[in-house]
Amino acid sequence: MTEIFDAIKKSAIDIKNLIETGDTSKSTNENSTGDTQLKLDIASDEIIEAIFKDVSCIKAIVSEEQEEIISLNENGKYLIAYDPLDGSSLVDVNLSVGSIFGIYENDFTGNNLVAAAYVVYGPRVELVIATDDVKMYRLINNEFKFMQELKLNEKGKLNAPGSTQNCWAPFHKKMIDEIFEDGYRLRYSGGMVPDLHQILLKGGGLFSYPGTTDRPKGKLRQLFEVFPFAYIYEKANGQAIDGFKRALEVETTHIHDTTPCFFGSNEEIKKVLKVYKENA
Ligand code: AHG
Ligand code: MN
Ligand code: MN
Ligand code: MN
Repeated sequence: MTEIFDAIKKSAIDIKNLIETGDTSKSTNENSTGDTQLKLDIASDEIIEAIFKDVSCIKAIVSEEQEEIISLNENGKYLIAYDPLDGSSLVDVNLSVGSIFGIYENDFTGNNLVAAAYVVYGPRVELVIATDDVKMYRLINNEFKFMQELKLNEKGKLNAPGSTQNCWAPFHKKMIDEIFEDGYRLRYSGGMVPDLHQILLKGGGLFSYPGTTDRPKGKLRQLFEVFPFAYIYEKANGQAIDGFKRALEVETTHIHDTTPCFFGSNEEIKKVLKVYKENA
């Protein structure tokens, strides 16, 4: 998979330059999940597609910004699903954004993920790759240098509660309130990549994006966001669930399907499982 990781590194450097110099305005198009695409969403997607096209082990790709799966090399072994620019609505206010990649064998199901990676474009550019372990690299003088291995503690201190609060189920609100009463601090930027990166680096906590009255299946996409981070959190000694079961066991009927999701260290996920089981 080295070839794939090299391609991800190359695209990260190009996307970093694009974010720094590119046009941050909206296009007139909508993607499959109904987001109005920024010109940067489209350009980031084009960068990744062009770079992946030259990698012979990639059989097919699919992106948040594309309607369909794109076939590349018939003899390729790997399938890649990606979110080219996560948190793109934060670019205009200069908050951190990211790119997310899930690498699959056979088909795009959670159980067939074999590696995952993400890039954070912040004051520094960092890349996290999960295979059997989770390693973080930092872009220094145009090269990614290994920095550290990432592992979650059993219990953390941060709480990142996503989605529109007046659409939360009362039991979900009660659970989030109790977590704050327990001493957790609010850390939510609205960018999944920096929010989950922060929890990973600070040892643990909970990130939630539940199903709500306006969006019963949540907002975050299985293939492009939830599965890759679920893989990364599990390999980092944490967990990812849909409220009831492992997020990686959620069934996909359409490539753009979303799912409620919770990522965290073991103690926080234990609490979510208990609360959701009692209230289902
Ligand atoms: P994208 O920019 O790729 O469409 O993803 C945005 C996602 C994710 O980054 C973030 O966690 C979530 O949207 C934030 O949604 P809310 O503003 O509803 O909290
Ligand atoms: Mn989007
Ligand atoms: Mn996203
Ligand atoms: Mn995106």
